[in-house]
Amino acid sequence: MCGIFGYVGKKNNAAEIVLEGLKRLEYRGYDSWGVVVEDKACLRVERKAGKIGEAKVSLPSSHVGLGHTRWATHGGVTVQNSHPHLDCTETIALVHNGIVENFSELKKELKEKHRFTSETDTEVIVHLLEDLIQTKNFSEAMREAFKKLIGLNAVVSLKGNQLVVAKNGSPIVLGFGEGEFFVSSDASAILPYTKNVAFLEDNQAAVLDASGIKVFNLSTGVEIEPKTQKLDWEPESAELGNFPHFMVKEIYEQPKILEGIIKTSSRQVEELADFIRSSYGAFLVGCGTAAHAALTGQYLFSRIAKRHVNFNVGSEFGYLEHFLTPRSLVVALSQSGETIDIIDSIKLALEKGAKVASLTNVLGSTLYRMSDYKILLGAGPEKSVCATKSFTAKIALLFLIASQLSGTGKEGVRILEQTVREIKRLLDKETVEKIEKLAEKIKDKNHIYIVGRGLSYPVSMEAALKIKEVSYIHAEGFPGGELKHGVIALIEPETPCLVFAPNDETYGGIISGAMEMKARGGHIIGVSFKDADVFDDWIKVEDTGDGTAITNSIVGQLLAYFLAVKRKCDPDKPRNLAKSVTVK
Ligand code: G6P
Repeated sequence: MCGIFGYVGKKNNAAEIVLEGLKRLEYRGYDSWGVVVEDKACLRVERKAGKIGEAKVSLPSSHVGLGHTRWATHGGVTVQNSHPHLDCTETIALVHNGIVENFSELKKELKEKHRFTSETDTEVIVHLLEDLIQTKNFSEAMREAFKKLIGLNAVVSLKGNQLVVAKNGSPIVLGFGEGEFFVSSDASAILPYTKNVAFLEDNQAAVLDASGIKVFNLSTGVEIEPKTQKLDWEPESAELGNFPHFMVKEIYEQPKILEGIIKTSSRQVEELADFIRSSYGAFLVGCGTAAHAALTGQYLFSRIAKRHVNFNVGSEFGYLEHFLTPRSLVVALSQSGETIDIIDSIKLALEKGAKVASLTNVLGSTLYRMSDYKILLGAGPEKSVCATKSFTAKIALLFLIASQLSGTGKEGVRILEQTVREIKRLLDKETVEKIEKLAEKIKDKNHIYIVGRGLSYPVSMEAALKIKEVSYIHAEGFPGGELKHGVIALIEPETPCLVFAPNDETYGGIISGAMEMKARGGHIIGVSFKDADVFDDWIKVEDTGDGTAITNSIVGQLLAYFLAVKRKCDPDKPRNLAKSVTVK
């Protein structure tokens, strides 16, 4: 939530570098944006409400710059509320990600002698800094100001030719280039310049200037050697290439990612399976799409490994803390590794002495750092706000882990390989065109109902979530058996009903449900290995055993994508959403 990008170094086009960085981070928030540079001891700022898109800045040349792309929390979407915010002397600029919980108290005190120009919680930090800098150097003043804040925050401030960073929440990555240094909310934005990065830990501060980066303990001020690591992502993996949107690009990346998982994950799969085996009470937690992956995991562990692994959404997990003991294992799923409800869940688990394992896509993320055991998804940067490739990567890993637990690891790999072949066939022209035509047919409907049973139940929920997120059509996914308990009342003539009917024990039941919806005039769209009389439209998905959950999900992703495009919605930046939800 909110993107931060800062530059200091040998080049004199800091404004452009920062703007380009913000464009790469825009998926984190796109209500408004702003850039500041230092010019002959003055600050020059440009701020705009709305998406960055193809924006250009007309700021003077400079060797130091800082920018922000906002997802509004305190105060509406206006130029005044967009970051960077300046102090009264206009010599300090500041950007922020997080929420200052005690901002009203602080503002009350500061208002006496400072001029406030926005409704944000952020502005209090820059005025605090303004007061403290009278008696302290820039970095000390920042540390002192930060200590007065309650809440989880990351802030970066620019004064003179320095950038100072402090954080106790929200991700911050430092980039070490040749004579140039970067600070960003996300490593992928730094990737075009350098692969050498360090993830700032909570309770750390950093000072960046043309000579390098220094990291400090936020409380004590003692200097710490930054732990640099080398990113293994390729810069082009964060670019669009020939695709019109990241969402469809990322859908098409899935076969390659799953092949990578098959090739490289066997040792980690074995180790996590051992962790689960030796736990007494294992829990899968995730939010949004990751929650659907976690629920899919619950079915997979039950079906394949005959083991009950509890599922819950991150925001509810805290209410189940009573079940946690030092023998529990919490397996946290999160693409970003930063989702606040997941971080809170694992903090709670760790406090209770439980072990934490994680499946995340971001090396060095908070979840990655906090986990006792971690597996990286290896899906490369996911830029589209709605998760696609990270979802199937998580399912593939959970499937392999469940297979390993049941002693059928090799069979698991074979099924996954077969699934990859089927995904490639699906992504070939014919099926994609069919799904596109289907989207054209139903694009003006107000409601879509989606049913599945067993393993296809989370798949239905995920398909509905994708459709809601990117096309704004109301879509509901639910277990086929629940149809008669309410939802059938909503089926009217021509209501689109998507039915997942794989070749498993759910087939008979789900076809009966389809018949009942058809009897009420529903337009039945079957996603199945074979055609059935009840289907008005049929998307063929070959049977690949439990791997069908992955291929069926991809049908849902493609349908959501085409619905968005046909309704002229931006699938990569849906309204009101953000890629990484780091505030409560
Ligand atoms: C946001 C995103 C979703 C994502 C969810 C969880 O809501 O829009 O696409 O599934 O967060 O994100 P995580 O990074 O924890 O997987």
